[in-house]
Amino acid sequence: MSFRISDIAMTENIDNSKINAAVRAAKEFIYDDFTVGIGTGSTVKFFIQALSELVEKDELDILCIPSSLESQIELAKVGLPTGSLIEESELEIYVDGADIITEDFVLIKGGGGALTMEKIMARASQEFIVIADFSKFPRELNSFPVPIEVLPQAINTIIKPIFDLGGEFKLRYGTGKIGPVVSDNGNIIGDVHFKEPYDPFVMERQITLIPGVVENGIFPDDSDRIIIGHPTSSEVVFTRSEKEES
Ligand code: A5P
Repeated sequence: MSFRISDIAMTENIDNSKINAAVRAAKEFIYDDFTVGIGTGSTVKFFIQALSELVEKDELDILCIPSSLESQIELAKVGLPTGSLIEESELEIYVDGADIITEDFVLIKGGGGALTMEKIMARASQEFIVIADFSKFPRELNSFPVPIEVLPQAINTIIKPIFDLGGEFKLRYGTGKIGPVVSDNGNIIGDVHFKEPYDPFVMERQITLIPGVVENGIFPDDSDRIIIGHPTSSEVVFTRSEKEES
């Protein structure tokens, strides 16, 4: 037997939790005429579906800017109008998932390999909302490796500088292609494993300073709101205004 009943129940719980976070973001935080940045990942797929249902019911008229080819395809499937960041650089809102969220609300992103566009869009947007299921929060910072995007010619020269920062660089391999994972931008995606705790603010900058590194998946203080989904509910665990008041 290749699966257990409890695994199926957990998968359903996780999917329902993703749906609850995604639907809440679409219903509560997206307004008519918004230009909406669309992240990448399985939770975002539910968000795209929720948006398309609101648009179908004539409750919303929006323009979507995808952060990846995958999300562009998903948006096209449901017929949502899309544009690109080149024409539409003013985003009212950017909605995306995360691989993990720490108790201090640091995000690690890039499990889907779209981290560079994701960081550009998160920082170009007036508001960044994170949607995630309960398994992602709270998590220890080094429980998930840091995804990085690297110029192909630099995959060996970055190894030592990353080692000097306490990390071990591993090329990421996927399925359906022989060789390392290549990003939408034509670069190589790898993951940096840290055994010891690190300062995410310092590490984010230090990794990016290594020649050949295009971007890394540490988002130390980017979210404006974080919605965590549960099997039958959702909760907003962080809003920036509350943080700034305290
Ligand atoms: C994509 O590059 C990632 O940053 C995703 O946002 C992250 O992997 C979350 O994906 P899921 O919603 O599929 O967990």
